[in-house]
Amino acid sequence: MSVPAPIAMLAELTHRCPLACPYCSNPLALHGKENELSTETWARAFGEAAELGVLQLHLSGGEPASRPDLVDLTRAAHEAGLYTNLITSGIGLTPARLDALEAVGLDHIQLSLQGTTPELADRIGGYKGGFARKMAVAAEIKARGIPLTLNAVMHRHNLDDLERTIELAIELGARRLEVACVQFHGWATRNRAALLPSRSQTEAAKRIVAEAEARLRGTLAFDFVPPDYYADYPKACMGGWGSAGLNIAPDGTVLPCHAAETIPHLDFDRFPDKSLREIWYDGAAFNAYRGTDHLPETCRSCERVGIDFGGCRCQALALAGDAAATDPVCSRSPDHHKVTALLETALAEGDAAEFTYRRMPRKG
Ligand code: SF4
Ligand code: FES
Repeated sequence: MSVPAPIAMLAELTHRCPLACPYCSNPLALHGKENELSTETWARAFGEAAELGVLQLHLSGGEPASRPDLVDLTRAAHEAGLYTNLITSGIGLTPARLDALEAVGLDHIQLSLQGTTPELADRIGGYKGGFARKMAVAAEIKARGIPLTLNAVMHRHNLDDLERTIELAIELGARRLEVACVQFHGWATRNRAALLPSRSQTEAAKRIVAEAEARLRGTLAFDFVPPDYYADYPKACMGGWGSAGLNIAPDGTVLPCHAAETIPHLDFDRFPDKSLREIWYDGAAFNAYRGTDHLPETCRSCERVGIDFGGCRCQALALAGDAAATDPVCSRSPDHHKVTALLETALAEGDAAEFTYRRMPRKG
């Protein structure tokens, strides 16, 4: 099959983060500072990504502002000709740092939102005072006119606040709001019972987003990711494995998606041991699930296979025990009953479930 060039790259600059969100998509085994790539190596990766055809670079983490060299990294990405998007909690972005980021060509900021009140947001983020600091940073971003997306990760504890979330996005001057219902990867799998919304919350969210989208056309654009456990069909995760984007972990491991390391039999290459071109086109992990040939007959004979590519490989492994299986979220999957059973168990525990916060392991 012919392999298209990647469009986007997610650079996980660090796993360090002052927040401790229980739904973090980072792996359970987090990398410490000592494993992070240097400024020069990241800059090389950005240059190679641009040569490979990448257009958009997402500077992410952890909290990318935890890297003291964030301005140098952004400059390097801009000079490589990449559109730069900073994915941040806002903590660590002082006015002076924002000025410097703007000066070196930062194109866009994606600010996370844990909740619409200090009590809720600080409880979910596990960081006291975080909401107040985030609102101050949002005001600085608005004052500078830097294009802003508000990324609201939604779950059972904040979905009832969706209308207020939309109002807040407008107040903060966001052009786009991501209503991103938690996907169960990384730390979210540990917190499934605490985070899973109810079916009625999910239905209400769909109605609220549809109504707001129509009412706010031209003011606020929406990206809505509904909770896929309630869906009939899975999402086209990553737009298809190894077809649109690549992720680089803080230590340089190059991944087809953020959760790919949960598939134990895959061999991952590391940058700069190999070039990004070699890894993208010839890497074993990138080729493992490209296309649809690995999928079972259920998918191969299905009219939706060109739409969702059989769903998410990591979810297929986690729920069906086989990364090549039909994503069990699909109502046509022979494993779909496992999703129904998970839903029932998680909902039964519901409000009684406590958060396990994402924390770096303590040294020594
Ligand atoms: Fe998608 Fe496979 Fe389900 Fe068809 S059977 S909808 S291709 S996951
Ligand atoms: Fe890995 Fe979906 S998160 S393929």
